[in-house]
Amino acid sequence: MMPMHSTERVLVTGGAGFVGSHLCDRLIKNGVDVLCVDNFFTGNKANIAHLLGNPLFELKRHDVTFPLYVEVDKIYNLACPASPVHYQHDPVQTTKTSVHGAINMLGLAKRVKACILQASTSEVYGDPEVHPQPEDYSGRVNPIGIRSCYDEGKRCAETLFFDYWRQHNLRIKVIRIFNTYGPRMHPNDGRVVSNFIVQALQGKDITLYGDGQQTRSFCYVDDLVDGMVAMMGTNEHVTGPINVGNPGEVTMRELAELTLKLTGSRSRLTFLPLPQDDPRRRQPDITSAREILGWKPKIDLEDGLKETVAYFKHILEA
Ligand SMILES: NC(=O)c1ccc[n+]([C@@H]2O[C@H](COP(=O)([O-])OP(=O)(O)OC[C@H]3O[C@@H](n4cnc5c(N)ncnc54)[C@H](O)[C@@H]3O)[C@@H](O)[C@H]2O)c1
Repeated sequence: MMPMHSTERVLVTGGAGFVGSHLCDRLIKNGVDVLCVDNFFTGNKANIAHLLGNPLFELKRHDVTFPLYVEVDKIYNLACPASPVHYQHDPVQTTKTSVHGAINMLGLAKRVKACILQASTSEVYGDPEVHPQPEDYSGRVNPIGIRSCYDEGKRCAETLFFDYWRQHNLRIKVIRIFNTYGPRMHPNDGRVVSNFIVQALQGKDITLYGDGQQTRSFCYVDDLVDGMVAMMGTNEHVTGPINVGNPGEVTMRELAELTLKLTGSRSRLTFLPLPQDDPRRRQPDITSAREILGWKPKIDLEDGLKETVAYFKHILEA
């Protein structure tokens, strides 16, 4: 069929999820025609409800472990549960989503000659001996642990992307996303930012694992979306992988204390044993993102947390 308009058509898999819904918002704001595909495993219609009447937006319920036949120019492949609670719920399905999902979306990209971006993860570095982690560090991942369905699934997806690139000349972009937070995170997914905020708002004890001295680096979702769009906009020679994250490192104890301050909560801190394979430190080296994408995070932790606290207040009161 002849196109009725010249707008670029972009597929976002996992578009009803936390990051995906913000990406859909941004693309629509940029005047792009968006096809959002999701099986609603962890995604939520409320995340995209405000887009449903928009003529640039289309929603399709589909599981990426099955082939998809659509006409698009670009694909952002985000479909995959991202938090341990969700990805460990059905670990076999998690690996299938990453691996079969990648094969299906790469197959689609090959058929329609689309450029495809993979939302990979800092988890490909496992529990790293190198700190911060540059992209050429190949990681220290346990292949048989309870996190492996996610970590190894994402690693295999990267392998597939680079093999499609080498073997079929596909235009690929791989970004490795580090911990991201913001409005529309799931309230009960066990991720530290949402855990702490919900516990603080409900006046429950704030649970820290180990001694609370392990560090994480948190990127606000708007910054991540900037990085994703910048990566998609690079020329065909840029494949990545490129780390996208905020290098500002905080201990979990500091995060808990900041959350208490911003919520005005009187919750107490309690300490639980460390879960299996929990990385001690995680911080992106974003030299490549700075140099190749001209990208760096702009939103500091306190400002981003304020927005996130406001969101959780709203949904907990609803
Ligand atoms: N949020 C982070 O900190 C972070 C960090 C690293 C990587 N990532 C990656 O970014 C992507 C988005 O993460 P998120 O935090 O928005 O998670 P999320 O769970 O909110 O979103 C994932 C989306 O994918 C959908 N989905 C899951 N399995 C599917 C399937 N088989 N078919 C179709 N849709 C499916 C879910 O319903 C959901 O809408 C994921 O690929 C994740 O691995 C996120």
